[in-house]
Amino acid sequence: MAPLNSKHNLLLTLLGTGILAAIFLSETAAGQNCGCDTGNCCSQFGFCGVDNDYCGTGCQSGPCTGSNGISVSDIVTQSFFDGIINQAPATCVGKSFFTRAAFLNALSLFSAFGTVGTTDVSKQEIAAFFAHATHETGFFCNIEENGGASTNDAYCNATYTEYPCAANKKYYGRGPLQLSWNYNYGPAGSFIGFDGLNNPETVATDAVVSFKAALWFWMRNVHPIVTFGQGFGATIQAINGFVECGGKEPDKVANRVQYYTNYCNQLGVAPGDNLSC
Ligand SMILES: *[C@@H]1O[C@H](CO)[C@@H](O)[C@H](O)[C@H]1NC(C)=O
Repeated sequence: MAPLNSKHNLLLTLLGTGILAAIFLSETAAGQNCGCDTGNCCSQFGFCGVDNDYCGTGCQSGPCTGSNGISVSDIVTQSFFDGIINQAPATCVGKSFFTRAAFLNALSLFSAFGTVGTTDVSKQEIAAFFAHATHETGFFCNIEENGGASTNDAYCNATYTEYPCAANKKYYGRGPLQLSWNYNYGPAGSFIGFDGLNNPETVATDAVVSFKAALWFWMRNVHPIVTFGQGFGATIQAINGFVECGGKEPDKVANRVQYYTNYCNQLGVAPGDNLSC
């Protein structure tokens, strides 16, 4: 499935580059919240418990260990997270919005994130996610796309009649990966549990939803690339390739690669091949 490209993305500037979306319709159903107590996992069959039967393969929410036993919270330490957001200037709106706790909370819906394949693949996936988030938000400085609210472009593609745009709502970039377009806000909202078409601003006002929206996009469009070992360059292609790859925006590509290799170094993993695009 080829990414959906649009000339509108060429108009975007600075950090708030819109995500070039690819819609993958054949996804599994949304994870259910079993309503388990804190510290309990919701098993693939919807029961609460703490051992591998509940927290292992198929675990839907809670402290899932995933198939390789990786705990993402052990890798994304407070000092790793702070090492990123502390580089954003003090005046940034994102500094009092994005938190490690919100990221970890958001993972409850995406137990396969950073927990599939070898330990190295897990670390590379985590490094790649934070590299793109760093680039898209400026070290978690910005919550929304620069100029997104003031532009006349609503990022509404009416071709997607199943995701009708609401009057006076704009689907410009918001959150760690700058979720964009009605055809992403609609299904992301359905999966996460908010009205993405009528209330797209939730992605910029609720930090957990904001990270969930980024992870929703990631799991559909980028996670398969990482876990199949296609290299970091392919993740750039999946996120904003039409705008940046093939020599169009070499500085932006170089920035993403630099963040990625830096985070891989911090996490003690080799970055792998095919870094650029
Ligand atoms: C809307 O989506 C269709 C189908 O993917 C695409 O062909 C068209 O170029 C898009 N239009 C805009 C304005 O993005």
